[in-house]
Amino acid sequence: MIRRSFCLGNLIQSLRVASPLSKLGAYCGLTSQAASSLQQVCEPSAHSNAGYEEYADVDWDNLGFGLMPTDYMYITKGTKDGLFEEGQLSRYGNIELSPSAGVLNYGQGLFEGTKAIRKEDGRLLLFRPDQNAIRMKIGAERMCMSSPSVDQFVDAVKQTALANNRWVPPPGKGSLYLRPLLMGSGPILGLAPAPEYTFLVYASPVGNYFKEGVAPLNLYVEDEFHRTSRGGAGGVKTITNYAPVLKALGRAKSRGFSDVLYLDSVNKKYIEEVSSCNIFIVKDDTISTPATNGTILEGVTRKSIIEIARALGYQVEERSIPVEELIDANEVFGTGTAVCVAQVGSITHQGKRVEYKTGDRSVCRELFSTLVGIQRGLIEDKMGWTVEID
Ligand code: COI
Repeated sequence: MIRRSFCLGNLIQSLRVASPLSKLGAYCGLTSQAASSLQQVCEPSAHSNAGYEEYADVDWDNLGFGLMPTDYMYITKGTKDGLFEEGQLSRYGNIELSPSAGVLNYGQGLFEGTKAIRKEDGRLLLFRPDQNAIRMKIGAERMCMSSPSVDQFVDAVKQTALANNRWVPPPGKGSLYLRPLLMGSGPILGLAPAPEYTFLVYASPVGNYFKEGVAPLNLYVEDEFHRTSRGGAGGVKTITNYAPVLKALGRAKSRGFSDVLYLDSVNKKYIEEVSSCNIFIVKDDTISTPATNGTILEGVTRKSIIEIARALGYQVEERSIPVEELIDANEVFGTGTAVCVAQVGSITHQGKRVEYKTGDRSVCRELFSTLVGIQRGLIEDKMGWTVEID
């Protein structure tokens, strides 16, 4: 059964007070237990088995973002006319593909990322899985693929999370990352859409995405390589957007940076996206992020942070941001399902390094705490974003 855990419809009222956590407590009506749990969002809570006892044998305190195979995956096939069979759970394992599958030859593939998070009472929450389903449909249209319905997508994610319940970390220790994949699995030799599609969801327990943990990131602005180009497919989550960044990412990491910030490929002047996430800058009470004009991925976390920030009373602008603005920003942060809301401590461009405010009293931390509080069921979900599954 899927049910909305809460839905008032209206956005939370704007309320600006000095301390981020007291602000949250004030308008969210947190219980003192929930408020103290929320503090532990940033410093993971003591291990709590509350409500759930069947955990897999995992070192929950040392989860990173590496693949840890779980018990089950969901799989179904569809025709190019969009008729998908009822999916099935099967043991997690290799799949068989024709050597001439569209995904292998012409990159006809999309992926998604979403998370199941354990509440303090042991139950599981999904966060806006319908948004991932809609994004996959939009991506499928761009890539000439057929795709499962929003309901089938959400049901598949729910089934995969529940079947792998013992791999969902205890409250505050991480999440079960769910990876829906859509691929042209039918054989095709000439360049054309594949005749058959496979939709699959697998899962892995994860902690922090970056090896830095929650420590601020050091980004490198890339002048040579671009993530995507105008008229391309940068706005959708196709697999073909990711391998091309590996060169720049590897080079930046070998120089000690956490990730790469890309510039637009036309003017080579406006900031676009980080390899693994969207980007935001903060200047006084204004939060800005590059507008989604086809080259920027429409992140579910990006969208959620924009709504949360507006509800907290910040002015949020979606616009073109010249790279020079990075010099004047007070804060910079990245958003994504995998990275959550990640503080940026420095950005280096053409040999110049600029440092940013980080820490508990930052805007970034306030937004992070609000988002994670909602995702963990510690803050009342007035947006109707979380889906409790049992
Ligand atoms: C996600 O945030 O879910 C992504 O797909 C990003 C990926 C680089 C891990």
